[in-house]
Parts: sequence; C-alpha cells; structure tokens
Amino acid sequence: MSQDSFVGSIKESELKEGQMKAVRIKGKPILLVRQGGQVYGVSNRCPHMGCTLEHGILRDYLVMCPCHGWKFDVRTGEYQEIKQVTLECYRCKVENGKIHIEISKDK
Ligand code: FES
Repeated sequence: MSQDSFVGSIKESELKEGQMKAVRIKGKPILLVRQGGQVYGVSNRCPHMGCTLEHGILRDYLVMCPCHGWKFDVRTGEYQEIKQVTLECYRCKVENGKIHIEISKDK
C-alpha cells in the first residue's frame, strides 16, 4: 500500500552525513538532509518568501534559510519561532542504495 507511494531519487552515496541536497520529485522541490545517520526530507521552499533552503546553513538538525535566517527543524519541519509554521515533511527510506521519498497521492 504505502510502499507504492515511495519514489526513488538520488543514490544514497550522493548524500553524505551533515549534507543537504535539493531534488525534485513529481514536480515537488524537496530538500534531503542526512543527519545523525538518518535521511530527512522537507520542502525546499521557505514558507516566509519562498527562497530555496539548499544554500542555507545546516547546524545539527536546524537548517537556516539563506534569505532572512528563519530556522527549521528538519525532523519536524517546524519554524523555531512559531511552531505552527512548518515545512512539509516527507518520509524517506534507503533501499537498494537509493533514497526513496514518500509522496502521498493527495499532496
Ligand atoms: S524567505 Fe526564508 S527566511 Fe525569508
């Protein structure tokens, strides 16, 4: 069931620990982050004014938007100042050397 909604993206080896990488899956801009051995996927568009986050700064689990410095937790998508403002999160899994991202059909 939910297996079907995972879509293959980049090779696992293309995303090293502590790195971010922008991908586009089914037209969606997604930022992949590997931190603490886990791969996280969040929307690559800042909800403030739409800047892409891939050129921001990653510290631990926080990515800072390069435009005006908003910080988001890649585990939850939460903007640190106002937790109700979030980036969309995408579940990721590594299989057969590739990172797969869950895209639900209604999104
Ligand atoms: S566009 Fe991201 S903080 Fe302004």
